[in-house]
Amino acid sequence: MKELDRKTHWENAWSLRPSESLSWYQSVPERSLAMIRQAGIRPGDAIIDVGAGDSVLAEQLLVQGFNDLTVLDVSRRALDRARRRLGQRAEDLCWIEADVTQFGPTRRYAVWHDRAVFHFLVSAADRSRYVAVLDRALAPGGQAIIASFALDGPERCSGLPIVRYGADSLDATLGAAWRVIEECREVHETPGGAEQNFSYFRIVRTTAEPVDSHQQPHGVNL
Ligand SMILES: C[S@@+](CC[C@H](N)C(=O)[O-])C[C@H]1O[C@@H](n2cnc3c(N)ncnc32)[C@H](O)[C@@H]1O
Repeated sequence: MKELDRKTHWENAWSLRPSESLSWYQSVPERSLAMIRQAGIRPGDAIIDVGAGDSVLAEQLLVQGFNDLTVLDVSRRALDRARRRLGQRAEDLCWIEADVTQFGPTRRYAVWHDRAVFHFLVSAADRSRYVAVLDRALAPGGQAIIASFALDGPERCSGLPIVRYGADSLDATLGAAWRVIEECREVHETPGGAEQNFSYFRIVRTTAEPVDSHQQPHGVNL
């Protein structure tokens, strides 16, 4: 899917229905919060939620005392919804409108969180761009948490084809520089009552230091 088509798809998706009725909606992102805790970070450490949509994850992390939070999404409408929901507290977060595969991070994060975004990258070229961005964005010693539909999960999400992952296939996809150190499953109940099997992966670098190759920012800071 081309960058522009992707943006159009997601702006449409975020214009049609209330957040609480979208299939991926969670009132409490329990598994994400648990895995972020597992990453062993401190409240001042930087966390980025890529493809955050209108997720309440950042809001709940704020409540837990994390104060260096960035929310990124390709859809301006999704970010606007999240900002409206947070009201005044939106000012405590950094907001970036960007396609993650084109994002040029200007700083590093201790935790990279992605629930149901990487799995939309069905082309090897997009996946390799994503991994290059992840490499630039993640601090030395940082951890990534990527959640996708599990191997026995649905084959489509938001009407789009996706790639389902298990620990072995994600390891192979990310390449030798990355290692999955934890996999947890979740049966997500959609607002419509369907069950979707998710796998959450905690990932670290196998190499000690990332190559320092920061680019010019590509993405709109809101
Ligand atoms: C299935 S929703 C998941 C939203 C959120 N992570 C959650 O768990 O509630 C996918 C989200 O990723 C965003 N998205 C999809 N492809 C993206 C991309 N290439 N770059 C940035 N955001 C993307 C969409 O706009 C949407 O908000």
